[in-house]
Amino acid sequence: MPQVIGVPRESFAGEKRVATVPEVVEKLIKLGFKVAVQSGAGDAMGHISVSRGADAIIVAPASADFLAKLAHGNADDLLSTLCVARECPLFVAPAMNRQMWANAATQRNIAQLASDGVAILGPDTGELACKENGEGRMLEPEQLFDSLIASRQPKVLSGKRVLLTAGPTFEAIDPVRGITNSSSGKMGFALAQAAAEAGAEVTVIAGPSALATPAGVTRIDITSAAQMADAVLSRVDRHEVFIGVAAVADYTPEVTHEQKLKKSKDALTLTLKPTLDILATVAARANPPFCVGFAAESHDVERFAEEKRKRKKLPLLIANRAQDALGNDANEVTLLDDAGAHPLPRMDKLALARRLVTEIARRLARA
Ligand code: C5P
Repeated sequence: MPQVIGVPRESFAGEKRVATVPEVVEKLIKLGFKVAVQSGAGDAMGHISVSRGADAIIVAPASADFLAKLAHGNADDLLSTLCVARECPLFVAPAMNRQMWANAATQRNIAQLASDGVAILGPDTGELACKENGEGRMLEPEQLFDSLIASRQPKVLSGKRVLLTAGPTFEAIDPVRGITNSSSGKMGFALAQAAAEAGAEVTVIAGPSALATPAGVTRIDITSAAQMADAVLSRVDRHEVFIGVAAVADYTPEVTHEQKLKKSKDALTLTLKPTLDILATVAARANPPFCVGFAAESHDVERFAEEKRKRKKLPLLIANRAQDALGNDANEVTLLDDAGAHPLPRMDKLALARRLVTEIARRLARA
């Protein structure tokens, strides 16, 4: 269990000094973390020794003034001294008025801190403590907590480049209509995040999806299966791992009408032609990256999925029931490889993504 140190913020209520335990610290305590709340340096060397057992320091909220101190290495109180004398990672969660955040000096300090290796979490946009609206709102304690957990993932893909596809594709019939599917992109984006957390350089080729790009991930937005194929095939050579998570359209209209089709009383027939199988094309290359596929089947999942793995020549395929996977926040999958079928318990997509990254890294090391 990681050890966390909470340094309360001290303020004055009238004459009385009040120490407020930050919300994120309270959240960590509720979740069962061992938290030492430290309001003073303790012994003479406390400003150094207090952080020695800590896995991370998180300053939340971090004011414009504190960020400025930190950027210049000032060490004139307990918190700034802890930060300067630390040996663990440092996170700051800026929280301030929107103009203070936009101020050139603050932005200069933030750039300096980022290049010094300090992780900047947020800020968010929304209502601020001063009642104005804009950028400068501290991220919610849950989001800060998630970032902390993310940073602690083992770096099993360090130095590796991972290319993924995610989300649905959209095959245009005319300027306003098209064929798509109910893929949300959640699994692909969760895998992109997990791979980045594991130290990989990650690029995701994303079909239409409103999901936010995970931190540190390069995103290339495309619309159609053909565009996804172009985006993948022009880049894949530089990657050690390719993961096809996207629900790529299997068929696309033979003709895309330039003008909107007019409604009539007659039946309308669309002729569809097959799209290129991106994953099979990549796996068939002379020197393919480690290729991972997904198979969503409505019945006989393992049998159909294993046939697919063999046909596409994949070292690893993740099989699931289409009814369980598409659009949901959780998923239950079975890993299929040359050694057989390995079922995993049901879990949320980010936890699953982290587990899959571990499985991929283990197989990559053996390949
Ligand atoms: O054959 P099926 O579409 O069920 O295969 C699913 C797997 O193949 C997924 O990993 C998907 O991303 C990939 N795929 C692809 N290009 C296609 C169709 C599927 O890369 N045109």
